[in-house]
Amino acid sequence: ELVKNISGLVDLERELKGLLKLERVIVVPGDSCEDETVKQEMGAVAAKTLSSLVNPGDIISVAGGSTLARMANMAPKKTKDQNNMIVPARGGLGERVEIQANTVAAELANNFNCSYRMLHVPDEVSKESLNTLLLEPKVNEILDLIKNANILIHGIGRAEEMAKRRGLSQERVSSLLDKGSVGEAFGFYLDKKGGVVERVNTVGLTLEDLNDINKVIAVSGGSDKSEAILAMLETGHDDFLITDEGAARKIYNLL
Ligand code: F6P
Repeated sequence: ELVKNISGLVDLERELKGLLKLERVIVVPGDSCEDETVKQEMGAVAAKTLSSLVNPGDIISVAGGSTLARMANMAPKKTKDQNNMIVPARGGLGERVEIQANTVAAELANNFNCSYRMLHVPDEVSKESLNTLLLEPKVNEILDLIKNANILIHGIGRAEEMAKRRGLSQERVSSLLDKGSVGEAFGFYLDKKGGVVERVNTVGLTLEDLNDINKVIAVSGGSDKSEAILAMLETGHDDFLITDEGAARKIYNLL
């Protein structure tokens, strides 16, 4: 197999931006699946990028996961209140509290010196319970904010890893994989072409809602995640990609 080689990260960023039709691609050196400090660096760059893209009054929607949790940790302290609001992108997705979207929203808001709301909807609830929850004014109030987000920042995971992390049965993991799932983002399991294989039954942003969001930022790295990242990018919803060299070189070779 011919390995397309490209030397500098700036060239790699430019090539990927063109090939993937993105507004901007940022590649940090290293491979976060081998080196934890690379994930930290990716988080720092993501936080800085987000900070530079936020306008006063913007509603920022955030996903969960370890990468986004890092982003919130590393976010620069803002002193001026710019009337921003941070909300989780969706309800519970089966993550540990430390890396849930609710926690990311609270921590980021603390650093950005702005307000936040949490969405207390458990993951994988029945349709019936979801409908009942949707009758709650408080839940609706937050969903309204979520649906009006101007910016979304989200992670991307490998379908298999995410299904296991969420404690799905071996049977359901196999079924997801048999149906071609390779990637996952905010509760949507995606195939190679960006088609939705399955979604976690919760409330909040759907893929279609992303059409109305001005700036959609994906933050995900690690050479093991190249296929997953590409699956999400295939949906055509992202504007910005913040990744690492490990993933970027592999993605480039998949194109
Ligand atoms: O579960 C929330 C989530 O954002 C998923 O949508 C995504 O696949 C995952 O976290 C990414 O997690 P990590 O950054 O830990 O790889």
